[in-house]
This record gives sequence, C-alpha cells and structure tokens, in this order.
Amino acid sequence: MADAGRPHGSDKDSLGNILKVAISMCLVCSIVVSTAAVVLKPLQEINKELDRKQNILRAAGMLPQDSKRAADGRGIEELFAEFDIRAVDLDTGSYVDAVDVTTFDPIKSARVAALSRELTVDEDIAVIGRREKVSLVYVIAGESGIEKLVLPVRGYGLWGTLFGYLAVEGDLSTIAGLGFHQHKETPGLGGEVDNPAWKALWPGVALFDDAGEPAVRLVKIRSPESNSDARFEVDALSGATLTTRGVENLVNFWTGELGFGPFFAALRTDLQQKSGDRD
Ligand SMILES: Cc1cc2nc3c(=O)[nH]c(=O)nc-3n(C[C@H](O)[C@H](O)[C@H](O)COP(=O)(O)O)c2cc1C
Repeated sequence: MADAGRPHGSDKDSLGNILKVAISMCLVCSIVVSTAAVVLKPLQEINKELDRKQNILRAAGMLPQDSKRAADGRGIEELFAEFDIRAVDLDTGSYVDAVDVTTFDPIKSARVAALSRELTVDEDIAVIGRREKVSLVYVIAGESGIEKLVLPVRGYGLWGTLFGYLAVEGDLSTIAGLGFHQHKETPGLGGEVDNPAWKALWPGVALFDDAGEPAVRLVKIRSPESNSDARFEVDALSGATLTTRGVENLVNFWTGELGFGPFFAALRTDLQQKSGDRD
C-alpha cells in the first residue's frame, strides 16, 4: 500500500485538511467578491445616475430612444445640464429648498412612515401603498416660464410596480412623453410599454379635462378625432389589460390631487401672475 507507514496525522485527505482547504477557498473567494463590490460600487453609482438621466431625457423627447446622442451631437450630460432639479412638497405644491436633490431618493422616503403618507384603498389607484411627502421634479425653464417638466411616476401593473418618468410640455397640460425604466411586465404583453411605437403615441396627449381633473384614458378603440375625448386617449396594450389599466391609473394618480396636482396648480398660478405682470 502506498500510504503504508505514513503517520495518520499527515493524511492529506483527512477531514481536517479538507475543511482547511474549503475554508481557505471560501475566505479567498469572499475577499475577492467583497473587494470587487467595494471597488466597483462608485462605477455602478455613476452608471445608475447616467441611466436615470438618459431615461429622463428620453421621456422628455430630448434623446432618441435608440441612441445616447441627440441629433445635434450633444451627449447625455450636456443635455441633462439643461434641467434644474427641484424638490417639491407634494401636499402644498411648493418647492422645498432644504433637500439635497443630488442624493434625495423619493422612493426610499415612501418607505419611511415619517416621510410619507399611507394611502387609503380609494386614494391608491396606482397601488403604491405609501406616497412620499417630498418628490423631485426636473424642470427646463425659459424666459417665459417652464418649457419642459419631467415627473417621476410609478404604479402597479400586473406583476409589479412600473417606475418611469412622465414629461409635460410648458403649457403644463400636454404630455411630452412617457417611459418606464423598471418593470416586471411580460415581454410581448405588458412589456410592450417599452415598444417605441407605443411610446410614440404619448406626445401631444392632453392630461386634464376642462375641470382640471386628470383625464388620460387608455382605450381599445380610439374616439374619432372630431370627438373632444380623443385628446385624452392612447391605445391600450393588446392582451395586457391589467398593465394598461395600471399605466392609466398611475398617470392619473401622479397628475392628480395626491400626486403633483398641487404643484401643477402652483405653477399655473405663477404662470398667470407672470402673464398678468406682462400685460
Ligand atoms: C404568462 C402570462 C403572462 C402575462 N403577462 C401579462 C402582462 O404582462 N400584462 C397584462 O396585462 N396581462 C398579462 N397576461 C394576461 C392576463 O393574465 C390577462 O389575461 C390579460 O391582462 C387580459 O387582457 P385582455 O383582456 O386584453 O385579453 C399574461 C398572461 C399570461 C398567461
């Protein structure tokens, strides 16, 4: 026998040796994985931030859906620099200056009882459970007022919450675009929210009816252009009624009284005052 005469303690296949090797391997691997996680974290944060900017620009129609450059050659950072990021108190509609908008995360706030409000079943048409007290808005303002406004929106579809951005034109009542950067809907069904052809149906749609109430409707058959309801309508997603209903509800929730409604009202008052001053 080859092992004859070898002292029992030096057996390399012994349980002690196997455990030593296994533990050393685990230790080395965990050090490699945690070092990689720590070293790559800043890079991941930069990429996440770039992705957020890209999604906002795409919703606003300032960046093509399939490119990282605008037609005039400007890149994401240059285009995004046009936006002013502001925090808004959703209950009053006023700007809040005591918030660092570069680090503030409204979604995280929504999970904290003191920083959010619980919605009743009747209020919660977007099925988000809690709504943050303060959110962020992305504004491009010119001499005559707001030119473009982008709002973070979210709501439940069929399989989970859809997170996106709704862009609004300077008239504060016409949609400039809508895009979702995170959702769990089925590709080919609810996942068609990402289809550029469907997204192209949103610009120009009217947000509010004559009474100022959110009025967007996702419909299987659109009204004739001559019908005044046609301005609120977007095609439903075929075979995805639940996602469709979720999208309609989330748009109307975030533009309504419990969402950015008070902010829209404050902006309209501001706009009226400015035009009054000019007259
Ligand atoms: C595997 C699978 C995935 C589905 N994914 C979605 C989805 O992402 N969004 C959705 O609204 N419906 C989805 N549905 C369909 C819903 O269960 C439901 O039938 C549908 O929303 C009804 O839409 P319709 O009235 O247009 O047929 C899925 C169904 C199956 C079997």
